[in-house]
Amino acid sequence: MTTVTICAIPGDGIGREVVPAAVEVLRDAVPDLYVEWAEGGAETWSQTGAALPERTLDLVSSTAATLFGAVSSPLRPTPGYRSAILELRRRFDLYACVRPVKTLALAGAPPHQADLVIVRENTEDLYGGGEESDGERAVAQRVITRSASTRIGRQAFALARRLGRSRVTVAHKATVLPKTDGLFRESIFAVARAYPDIAVDEMLVDNVAYQLAARPDRFDVIVTTNMFGDILSDVAAVHGGGLGLVPSANIGAMHGVFEPVHGSAPDIAGRGLANPLAAILAGALLLDFIDRHSEAEQVRAAVAASAAGPVRTPDLGGDAMTDDVVRDVRRRFQSAVPASR
Ligand code: NAI
Ligand code: MG
Repeated sequence: MTTVTICAIPGDGIGREVVPAAVEVLRDAVPDLYVEWAEGGAETWSQTGAALPERTLDLVSSTAATLFGAVSSPLRPTPGYRSAILELRRRFDLYACVRPVKTLALAGAPPHQADLVIVRENTEDLYGGGEESDGERAVAQRVITRSASTRIGRQAFALARRLGRSRVTVAHKATVLPKTDGLFRESIFAVARAYPDIAVDEMLVDNVAYQLAARPDRFDVIVTTNMFGDILSDVAAVHGGGLGLVPSANIGAMHGVFEPVHGSAPDIAGRGLANPLAAILAGALLLDFIDRHSEAEQVRAAVAASAAGPVRTPDLGGDAMTDDVVRDVRRRFQSAVPASR
């Protein structure tokens, strides 16, 4: 086995609790994992004047992948401050935001189980900048390009193939936005022709929202534009057991940054109450990215077993601490995968 080096950026608040927790589990999964710890976030910004110091950028660039905790953002616009995660996405052109959502057996199995992946374009659409207002009339520019739509389409179909998924659903509103969403839709269907083994279909985004809430089992992989994806990802997260459990990936051509969906949770930070499972599952996505798929599956299995058991943090109705959950996951991992393997 060759040594693999990753970068870990705990960030602010509970990021400092859940990232070290996730790294402990990743070290069980990949014993020769080498971790470079790096600074970033609001606290780093207030101490050094940079939310992402040069050393951190160098490590994100030079390591195989990055595990990111969460960062706090000032409530008011602060001159010179740029959110570390937004800056990472921009600098490394992490154009795909990938969010897998799987129903975990928590309190009994719900009638419709989710096991889906949302692939969201992350660089353009209404979030690309270009808002104007004269105080009476405000206008936002929505840019959709064939190149960005094509690369997110390729990401979605390649991922579907790698994960053994059978269908990609294009979520759009080309009925009302025939130019922008029309181009997105057309680009995705063009990519689909290169993946005859994967079925493709389409659904208007408002219906996707409804179906995601009511019948998440109908979906496999969903590909969509930036803002629709932002909203749909959070709808889907409900099925994944909430903020303490859902991970996400920011993927570019060269780099990947993996993070829990939640933020820095200042209300519980520093008290050992944070649920580490989302960060651990983000670590499993990182393992997928570096082609350690079987280890990633083992981590996911240990998390699922732990979440179904009695050792739970308060957000899942238990009274366990972060460390108790980490111990429980590691115990389940180690008993499933003997050290002698
Ligand atoms: P949040 O996700 O930090 O917290 C929302 C609620 O969920 C809180 O009550 C928190 O205690 C709870 N929660 C979140 N994660 C949890 C976990 N792992 N275990 C147990 N409970 C958990 O979102 P909020 O409060 O809107 O934002 C707090 C700060 O985080 C803000 O400064 C915000 O800008 C930042 N943020 C950063 C993100 C990132 O770095 N990618 C994403 C979202 C928010
Ligand atoms: Mg969001």
